[in-house]
Amino acid sequence: SFALSLTGKLVIVTAGGTQENIDPVRYIGNRSSGKMGYAIAEQAVRAGAHVILVSAPTNLKVPDGVDFVLVDSARSMQQAVDSRFDSADAVVMAAAVADFRVVNMANQKIKKMETMTLELVKNPDILYGLGQKKSHQVLIGFAAETERVVEYGMGKVHKKNLDMLVANDVSKSTAGFNVDTNEGYFLFPNQDAKEIPNMSKQEMAKAIVEELATLIQSK
Ligand code: PMT
Repeated sequence: SFALSLTGKLVIVTAGGTQENIDPVRYIGNRSSGKMGYAIAEQAVRAGAHVILVSAPTNLKVPDGVDFVLVDSARSMQQAVDSRFDSADAVVMAAAVADFRVVNMANQKIKKMETMTLELVKNPDILYGLGQKKSHQVLIGFAAETERVVEYGMGKVHKKNLDMLVANDVSKSTAGFNVDTNEGYFLFPNQDAKEIPNMSKQEMAKAIVEELATLIQSK
């Protein structure tokens, strides 16, 4: 049971690894399974929130009680989140968003050749954009770091204008992408850093939702 409730609050959660099309049958992806984001969506529903889960394709079952929006690329995820942002009380960005996309997607399957070059261009940073335009919304980001987790994470808290950042140490085999456990730090703009020991993603999600409820309450 939760000390604080999210009843009546609209929470957008993103999850999974975005896919950037190369041609009709190929894409550039990453190793995000969606487990972290889906666990947050599930715990937020349990805390009473209206949850919109904006997800890249995953192998997971959609949690009961969420409004589910399936997307693929970073730009389609951005469109899905931005168009719902005004009415949201909070956004939690657990998705692993591709930093680059293919400049020209081929309309036909690309034929075999000895060498080929793909030209990539920078994707929009969805979370940075939300941080620029936020008013009453609570913004929680993630950071996948392999070294100097607190220092690099704190940089993202300020750069992206976040209320909290979950900095996970993805150099550990028991944390980060495609495992059932996670660990790291909850970082705040006042320089506070709460160390989060290794635990299941469901347990970490519950801790994130408790912080979220506190942050919404104090707005
Ligand atoms: O899905 P799982 O297998 O359970 O793995 C969980 C996870 C490791 C993917 C998750 O815990 C996590 O760390 N997600 C964020 C991964 C990431 O993309 O980190 P980043 O440091 O590159 O991005 C920082 C933040 O900006 C993230 O909240 C990200 O969603 C957001 N971002 C990044 C790039 C971009 N173009 N737009 C964004 O909004």
